[in-house]
Order: sequence, then C-alpha cells, then structure tokens
Amino acid sequence: MHLAVLLFVALLSVATFALDNGVMRVPPMGWLAWERFRCDIDCEHDPKNCISENLFIDMADRLAEDGWRELGYVYVNIDDCWSSMKRDDKGRLQADPKRFPGGIHKLSRYLHDRGLKLGIYGDMGTHTCGGYPGTTLDKIDLDAQTFADWEVDMFKFDGCYSNATEQALGYPLMSKALNATGRPIGYSCSWPAYHGGLPPKVNYTQLGEICNLWRNYGDIQDSWDSVLNIINWFFENQEVMISAAGPGKWNDPDMLIVGDFGLSMDQSRSQMALWAIMAAPLFMSNDLRTISSKARTILQNKMAISINQDPMGIQGRRIVKEKIGIDVFWRPLSNNASALVFFSRRNDMPYRYQTTLSKLNYTTGTYKIYDVFTDKTMILKDSTGFVVSVNPTGVVMWYVSAPATRNLRQFHKGGRLRGSAHDDENANPRVFL
Ligand code: GLA
Repeated sequence: MHLAVLLFVALLSVATFALDNGVMRVPPMGWLAWERFRCDIDCEHDPKNCISENLFIDMADRLAEDGWRELGYVYVNIDDCWSSMKRDDKGRLQADPKRFPGGIHKLSRYLHDRGLKLGIYGDMGTHTCGGYPGTTLDKIDLDAQTFADWEVDMFKFDGCYSNATEQALGYPLMSKALNATGRPIGYSCSWPAYHGGLPPKVNYTQLGEICNLWRNYGDIQDSWDSVLNIINWFFENQEVMISAAGPGKWNDPDMLIVGDFGLSMDQSRSQMALWAIMAAPLFMSNDLRTISSKARTILQNKMAISINQDPMGIQGRRIVKEKIGIDVFWRPLSNNASALVFFSRRNDMPYRYQTTLSKLNYTTGTYKIYDVFTDKTMILKDSTGFVVSVNPTGVVMWYVSAPATRNLRQFHKGGRLRGSAHDDENANPRVFL
C-alpha cells in the first residue's frame, strides 16, 4: 500500500511536469541521416557515405554554403549507429572512435561555428534499434548530461528494446533530465510510434508537456507508397493530430525524402506541400552533395517553408475528399491568411478540378492567391468558379491572403502584387471555417 502511494506520487510528479525549454516554437528544420544513410558503417569500402564525422561535416558545409541555413534548415542530426559498442570507463556513451575520431563535442563546435545545430540519437531501452548501447532508466541522467556537455541541441529518443512501463517512466524522466542540464535541447520522442500513435494508449496532452516533437507512426522509406501511406494515416486521424500540435510541440510524420530515388518531381512537391500543411518538422534525409537542382528548388521553396513555419502553429486539415480522387487540404495562417493544397490520387492524367472558394468554406470577399510552385498570382472572389489542373500524384498549392472587401486596386496594381504577404492593410478579420 505504502509503496503503491509512493509510486503514484512519483508518477504524478513526472506526469504533471511541463516542458518549458523555449525551443522549437516553429517546426524544426534541418537534415537527418537515417532514411538516406541508415546504418552504413563500412567506412573502408564506402568512405563517402558511412556514418562518420566526415558525412556530417559534408552536410554541414552544404547547409551553410548552398543557401539552406538562411532558409531555416539548421539542424544536422545524427541518427543510430554513431556510438561505440561500449560505454567508457565512467559509464558514458561515446562515439565510435574510428568513425568519429574528433568526438561529438568537436562536431558540435564545428556546426555552431557555422550557425548550425547538432542533433543526436539515443534509445529508451537496453539497445538502440540498430543494436548499439541504449539508455536504460538508470542511465537517463548521465546520458542527458553527456549530451549537454557535448553542446548538443536536439535529442531523438527512440523506443526499441523497452516495454510500455519503462517507456512511461523513461520518456518523462529524460525530459526532466534534459531540462535539468540547463541547456535548451529540443526533445524528439518516438514513444507514440511504439503504441499505435492514437489515444487512449497515447496521451498527447502529456507528450505536449514533455516533448517538442514526436514520431506518431512508422518509418518513412524511399517510395511514394510509403509517403502516401503516411499521408493517409495522418489525415485519417487528423482530429487527434491537430489538437496535439502547437508551438513547441509537433507531430512528426518523419523525414522529407525529396532529392532521393523514390519520388517523381510531382510527388516531391506533394510531400513538401503536405508536410507544410501538417506543420511537420522538415528534416531532409538526402545527399546534399549531389542533390538535383529540381529537388533543391522544391525544398528551398520560400513560400512552402513560410507556410510550414507559420508562427500560429496550427496544423492544417483535409477539408474535401472527392470520390474522383481529389483531396483538398487547408491550413489557417497568421494575418487571416491560409494555405490550400489540391492533391490528386489519380493515375490517368492531369485532372481539371473545378470549385469555388465559398465551396471551400471561405467567407464572402476577394482573395489574393499566390501559387506556391509556379509563382503566379491572381485575384479571386469567393463566388467565382475556378479550375486547377492537378497532375497525377501531384499538388497545386496556394497561399491565400486575407479577404479584401475594399481597396482592391491597392491589392493588385499593373499585374504585380503590392505589399507583402504579411501586410494587413487589407485584412478584414474573418473566420474561414
Ligand atoms: C527506428 C526509428 C528510425 C531510425 C531507426 C534507427 O526504426 O523509427 O527513425 O531512428 O530506428 O535504427
């Protein structure tokens, strides 16, 4: 009895702890090794691609020199297979000495010198998913302190090789331990992905209090099938997802695979557009040394990024699912603006989808439309019929400004847009849905 009460009080104090580390008020952006480079540790035969400090230095250089950092892609995240198979004589995790001869702290300094941040990976359990040393309950404080000593900025805590009880203790304890180091460290929890991602097994209120982001669902692979499967799951469960997310606490549908081998350009735009609608973390897992200029253009699309990074941090939703295979997604944005995505599940030919803004629940008014991937603009009344041509497995994505009911000339002059997207001169606060 006594023990039960003690355990209850201990659990309660953990459960009511609120994460207040101030980081990731907008979804984090950067690069993450896993999907593209996996657990390639064969540096002898594959020196360019093996999990080693050289790989992370290469990606850091690309982020800093090829225009990524300025757009917000600042995290360089190590995933599994970075560590030595043995802890050091003080029980601390240590990097594999052959592949990371400089150690993790030297790497984080290299990144910080270039305005970048370092993320690292660990696992709540006896082993990581790849079989490297895990973080059992007794090692949580030590490992959190080790990461802080290395000046790490983000930590992904995976959940292989532990049971539900250990996880229910370990994930909140790690949150506390990271905070106790005094270093703001973004905390990514894989916990929900190990329990089907849905209530009642998953408690998103608690997750929002202890983690900055969390993996809800299975691992992304380099294929359209995989991306579509993830999209379907997230929007089928959108009510749960939307209420879980907000500034500092994000659902994570997993990495962007744009620039790899599995997606066409249309599919790449679809992933970028829907990750923006979902307010998802934007972690690319690709080879930035060899990425095509087309893929780079998609990932560096400023309007898609600013939609993803909207400071209100409200996750978007699917508002239409047509039997003919067209879905429409919508996300409310700051300044009474919004984003729309028309997505085709078809596999025949570009589909000419006809609708009006009022059918999409927009209130009476005139809207300025900016096409995210073609840079074209137009003015559209709520009642005016329009047609968008959506390629198979592709999207059309729009940024829709606040409605104007007056001063339309100020809105649009000589075919060119005036004012910025955040100019609220014409804003006429309205609720869209
Ligand atoms: C799990 C995670 C992946 C990756 C691997 C590493 O499968 O979900 O994202 O971290 O482990 O082994």
